[in-house]
Amino acid sequence: MNKPIISLAIETSCDETAVAVIKGRFEPLSGIVASQHDIHGKYGGIVPELACRRHAELIRPIVHDAIEKAGVSFSDLGFVSATRGPGLVGALLVGLSYAKGLAFGLNLPLVGVNHLDGHVAAVFIKQPDLPMPLLALLVSGGHTEIFLVQKIGQMKRLGGTRDDAAGEVFDKVAKFLDLGYPGGPPVEKMAAKGEAKYKVPVAMARSNTPDFSFSGPKTAVKHLVQKLKDEHGDNLPVSDICASFQKSVVDALEIKTRVAIEQSRPASIALAGGVACNGALRERITKLGEELGLPVAIPEPWLCSDNATMIGVAGANLYLDNPESAEWMDYMEMDAKPGWLPQ
Ligand code: KG4
Ligand code: ZN
Repeated sequence: MNKPIISLAIETSCDETAVAVIKGRFEPLSGIVASQHDIHGKYGGIVPELACRRHAELIRPIVHDAIEKAGVSFSDLGFVSATRGPGLVGALLVGLSYAKGLAFGLNLPLVGVNHLDGHVAAVFIKQPDLPMPLLALLVSGGHTEIFLVQKIGQMKRLGGTRDDAAGEVFDKVAKFLDLGYPGGPPVEKMAAKGEAKYKVPVAMARSNTPDFSFSGPKTAVKHLVQKLKDEHGDNLPVSDICASFQKSVVDALEIKTRVAIEQSRPASIALAGGVACNGALRERITKLGEELGLPVAIPEPWLCSDNATMIGVAGANLYLDNPESAEWMDYMEMDAKPGWLPQ
């Protein structure tokens, strides 16, 4: 029997420099994620120029570390995968150019992966046999989308945010409250100690489309913080504000997931992307699956935030479904696609 093919994957679409080694379609041999939160934290958001420079410094040593941790050598690799988009164009170009050089030097195929296909692919690592089609709620710093997935790399967008992404709004609310960047983890921590006693609206709650809007709730929290500052000075009820905001986001995500399920009748549900680290959201989507009798898949938190393991699994499935495709060898002209959404 043929030995499973080994591949190396690179992810540099945003502020994580990540490399992974994958065996076959689903088995991670190593995965390294170097986050740049220390660099961007003081600016309250990502500074693209700084992100690119850091990726360029780190990519080579991290590739070598990932190979060593996997216990393999470069000559064991069968192909390379790299994120092609969506993301910050300069950041994408660092990873993609390095991947092209590596593939060329080793005479290997290169698979360009959509970052969102990657987030969804993470779901299959523990549960490769999930019943299809799968409804995927993908919630990250750059995206809030609902997809109907037929298989890895083949998914149709059913709806999504019309303005801000949910993670972006967690980051903004954290900024209003001086909780640091990225905002999701500290907002969740504060919310756990508070009570959702302030009304933060759920936008588009009554429209029968699986679309979201988070800019209204963001502005509502901004005004609420201002009003409470006028009343309480610096003695703000931060945990109650966080609990009220988080409830509004989780309510919106649940309401719209229900709409999408009614319209598309999937066989299973998945939650993916950085915001899927949020315990309240994980609990809500798990309960929804139980109520509707649908299996639910939610990756472990480290596979929800940006990483290269998910890119490697997506790349491996694309490659192994069609190993003879000329696309994988014809990569020198492959460009980064900063706004690339699956259809
Ligand atoms: O998927 P990801 O790592 O990067 C993108 O592709 O955007 O997502 C990052 C986003 C950030 O906005 C971060 O604040 C949010 O995920 N996030 C969370 C939590 N952990 C990370 N949001 C809510 N609750 C969390 N526990
Ligand atoms: Zn992401």
